[in-house]
Amino acid sequence: MMKTKFIPLVIIIACLFGCKEHKEATSSTKATENRIENKRELINRVFKISEKQYNLLINKITNNEPLLQPRGITENDNVRLVPYYDWTSGFFPGSLWYIYKYNQKDKWKANAIKFTYALDSVKYITNSHDVGFMLDCSYGNAYSIANDTLSKRVIVEGATSLITRYRPKIGVIQSWDTTPNMGWISEKGWNTPVIIDNMMNLELLYKAFQFTNDSTFYKIASNHAKKTLKNHFREDYSSFHVVDYDSKTSKVRNRQTAQGYSDPSSWARGQSWGLYGFTQTFANTKDSVFLDQAKNIAHYIMGNKKIPKDLIPYWDYDAPNIPNEPRDASAAAITASALLTLQQYVPEEQKTMIAYAEKILRRLSSNDYLADIGSNQGFLLKHSVGNIHTDEENDEPLNYADYYYLEALLKWQEVD
Ligand code: GLY
Repeated sequence: MMKTKFIPLVIIIACLFGCKEHKEATSSTKATENRIENKRELINRVFKISEKQYNLLINKITNNEPLLQPRGITENDNVRLVPYYDWTSGFFPGSLWYIYKYNQKDKWKANAIKFTYALDSVKYITNSHDVGFMLDCSYGNAYSIANDTLSKRVIVEGATSLITRYRPKIGVIQSWDTTPNMGWISEKGWNTPVIIDNMMNLELLYKAFQFTNDSTFYKIASNHAKKTLKNHFREDYSSFHVVDYDSKTSKVRNRQTAQGYSDPSSWARGQSWGLYGFTQTFANTKDSVFLDQAKNIAHYIMGNKKIPKDLIPYWDYDAPNIPNEPRDASAAAITASALLTLQQYVPEEQKTMIAYAEKILRRLSSNDYLADIGSNQGFLLKHSVGNIHTDEENDEPLNYADYYYLEALLKWQEVD
């Protein structure tokens, strides 16, 4: 009897304290939500989260032998690990370098070196153009962030492998092989396919030129960029994904898509690769033709009404069921990073480009895109699309979304 008499009182007291605690938690959340986080706070918050998330990832994979790299998640919601020859193998070490660049902690440098050196054999790869992605994001950052001189040799050897894919008659580096072992690519009937993504691999060649003074690297990279400029773009500066050349006549056979919705559509990540690639090519050559191209692509993206107001594009600007289509956070992160480099060469558009990049970065740093600590298998960003035509990597985390997001945040930190 006594017991039951006390129950309502206990409940009232518990509720009073509980409600107070709840109110405080809510109001403190609200206080942060209502005030616009300044740039320094935002960047600091994201890099703190990155340390926690990437610690999780490292702890999950560190005992693998040979050391594999995390790329995304599997169908069963585990970390998808890939070997050194996967096109995405350089992004995880690259993100570790960016975390180290921000926090300057030895532990993170050791992690970055460990995962970078696991990619040594990439330098021998001659059956893929992706050597540039793989080595520049890993060894390229090891050199530029930690002055790791061993990396120079790997970069030059990798660039030497990459230029074996140069087709001098056409003036391009062939992206994909068309041999029967290439799965769906073999079925396309292509002769010498070149994809817009290939612009990203040129940086490795420009670095090799810088280290050796061998102009072969420079000429091949610049020829490829000029051919891409001529043949990959439409009048509005959107780009096709794949241009297939004829090795005998050196003429264009077809302009198509592989990862986009349709041949004439604008595959979101492809537009971002083009913007980044031409910005980078201008930075290396100072040839105004490349700057004009980068500016025109930027205008195409920044003025595009098919990109939603929050600036995170759907996986293809022309996807058929917009707004019921997945967004691609990776494309947004690549665009933000590219614009933050391009703005320094375009003083008259500096403010607009920085503002556009900032809007993307703030959106990606919100709860809708940035994972809660302990979730997303340790990756940072949710909602990217690898290849919509395969069932995997559709609206999921991807290591390259994280890489370009961290890169863009570091660039943003440097601008006024
Ligand atoms: N091939 C690189 C990409 O999927 O964007």
